[in-house]
Amino acid sequence: MFASKKDIVGIDVGSSAVKLVCLRESRGSFHLVNIGIMPLAPETIVDNAIMDSTAIVEAIQRLMQGMRVKAKRVATSVSGHSVIIRKILLPVMTEKELEASILWEAEQYIPFDISEVNIDFQIIGPDSKDPSQMNVMLVAAKKDFVNDFVAVFAEAGLEPVIMDIDCFAVENMFDYNYGFVEDEVVALIDLGASATNVNVLKGDMSVFTRDIQTGGNLLGEELQKRLGLSGEEAECAKLGDRDIADADPESINEVLSDAIENLVQEVQRSLDFFAATSSEDRVKKVYLTGGVSSSEQISKTLENRLGITVERAKPFRNIIVNEKEFDVEYLDAISPMFSVATGLAMRKVGDR
Ligand SMILES: Nc1ncnc2c1ncn2[C@@H]1O[C@H](COP(=O)(O)OP(=O)(O)OP(=O)(O)O)[C@@H](O)[C@H]1O
Ligand SMILES: [Mg+2]
Repeated sequence: MFASKKDIVGIDVGSSAVKLVCLRESRGSFHLVNIGIMPLAPETIVDNAIMDSTAIVEAIQRLMQGMRVKAKRVATSVSGHSVIIRKILLPVMTEKELEASILWEAEQYIPFDISEVNIDFQIIGPDSKDPSQMNVMLVAAKKDFVNDFVAVFAEAGLEPVIMDIDCFAVENMFDYNYGFVEDEVVALIDLGASATNVNVLKGDMSVFTRDIQTGGNLLGEELQKRLGLSGEEAECAKLGDRDIADADPESINEVLSDAIENLVQEVQRSLDFFAATSSEDRVKKVYLTGGVSSSEQISKTLENRLGITVERAKPFRNIIVNEKEFDVEYLDAISPMFSVATGLAMRKVGDR
């Protein structure tokens, strides 16, 4: 089959919403063709697993129809504890040799039966301490978990030609818009609704990843629990609205500050763990993505705690956007939520 590069759609099924990005590549640059979002009810996806597949199928179909997207081929991604990403040390061997032995090598690192997972790997390079060994990034995803996502797309009449991992999609988005700098250590942190994904890069290699099972939902939950707000009121308060009948602005600010503090502490703990386990590498800069990164308070608090620069990554920084077709200011405001979908939309058939 001859794959045309043009017609792949990036679809990120997040726990709060399905996000779609369609790009077109011409003369080496990406152009924005389509962007859309369809919210999902809170119990549709729980702990990254699909609870209500019909709701997701409908959301995808409504997005595709509403935006008149004709493409059938989709790049999508998964994340969470059914996905294992680990850096392992193996004797130096060629890619071919590793391909032949990966199942056997991987077995001891994966908490699931080896027959239950799809496995992929990337050779990072020789170990700095022992040149007879090499570092390998091992990725394993539970088949039944991945198959649930594949089934949803199939039911929506689409073909998922690329099944990626959320944090690698963000990495891809980052590479296009900012570029990897050799040996520079940066952390890409995706602050989503129910999870926070930490990915530390050294140059173009991911050297540490961690999923924190909390995210923006925490803010709303705290507002509901401590101030008795409804779900809707909490979401409005979270997005900056202080004109809430059931609570005064100071209490809202206080609850949000506490929750943000907790979230930031979790992120700091992950980065501390990275610092403690990596010999000489220190994170120089943090780039934030995901909906929660729209909150300026989060990036400020994180920056104060870590003492390094924290910047909101712009997924459309180097993407050409026609100002006649898109409201650029609005796009800039909502773009953090589209970081995964944008990275996915840049994928080509044959990538892995
Ligand atoms: N300005 C803002 N301030 C705080 N939070 C915000 C803001 N804008 C959006 N959010 C939050 O961002 C979250 C949605 O972000 P995103 O789309 O990245 O999550 P998701 O991909 O659906 O979730 P996950 O990746 O955890 O499954 C929601 O919790 C939403 O309330
Ligand atoms: Mg997400």
